[in-house]
Amino acid sequence: MDSIRTPRFLQQHRIDGTDLAREAAAGLLAPAARVSPKFFYDALGSRLFDAITELDEYYPTRSEAAVFGAHGAAIAGAALAASGPAPVLVDLGAGNCEKAARLFAALAPRRYVAVDISVDFLRQSLQCLQREHPTVEMVGIGLDFSARLELPAGVVDGPAVVFYPGSSIGNFAPDDALRLLRDARRAARGGALVIGVDLVKPVAVLEAAYDDRLGVTAAFNLNLLRHLNRLLGADFDVRLWRHLAFFDAAASRIEMHLEARTAQTVRWPGAERTFAAGERIHTENSYKWAPTDFATMLRDAGFADVRHWSDARGWFAVFVAAAAD
Ligand code: AVJ
Repeated sequence: MDSIRTPRFLQQHRIDGTDLAREAAAGLLAPAARVSPKFFYDALGSRLFDAITELDEYYPTRSEAAVFGAHGAAIAGAALAASGPAPVLVDLGAGNCEKAARLFAALAPRRYVAVDISVDFLRQSLQCLQREHPTVEMVGIGLDFSARLELPAGVVDGPAVVFYPGSSIGNFAPDDALRLLRDARRAARGGALVIGVDLVKPVAVLEAAYDDRLGVTAAFNLNLLRHLNRLLGADFDVRLWRHLAFFDAAASRIEMHLEARTAQTVRWPGAERTFAAGERIHTENSYKWAPTDFATMLRDAGFADVRHWSDARGWFAVFVAAAAD
């Protein structure tokens, strides 16, 4: 009898959060305080992000879905032309694995590798996906690839389609994005990259998407302080902070900050930080790209046969590029 497969799980970094706590504290103590956007995603933060994707103002998720709806077959065809049939499918920032699952029919991968910062986010979704696709080998990897993307040996043993949807690449400054894309090219082992990219558009549209009328994005940003309280044992009072989001045209990025409403000192075991009224903690950059600039970066990262598809408004693009060795 054919064996029913079960997902394998690998955690690549210590789960106790010590490294993460040290990183968060270092950012808070920097002269211009900053905290990486990866700290948004505790349990509540992940739910608040899901809520953001339902907002009228937040166009990226729906726009990307529209691109796949209209051009999914062409996108999968271009990826398969580079990888060959039955590729390994590598899903970066997989979360609930929903977006990749929609590609299973078109790509028919022989193995699905879901990567997320915490392997715990992947357990449920991979078990569910395994039931729907009993013959596909499934691997969940807990890995923070924001500094370096290096998959454990043997996980990708042939051409892969590396899938990085949602415009998460927007969190990286151009230099860091280039580095991550180079890593992604190596990880694809002669296969392809499929990546979602949010595009430059009128400032009013951009700023509304990051400062919605319901205040869900404000809650998402402020929730970071609750996460830091737990991670560090800090005593942030969320009521003393306000959400700020604006487009910096020169850098072509949305910036999100938390701004102190009043002067205050925040304490946690081993350290403290004083903030003046109006002082900010920089919590996120979300870069917006022109299609030609993103294509150039993909070529600089060593990709070939760069193509892209976008929605009718030209607000969001999905790029496919061949990871020539
Ligand atoms: C998940 C990084 C793509 O930049 O639009 C949404 C995160 N921040 N609203 C984005 C986010 C505020 C999102 N990414």
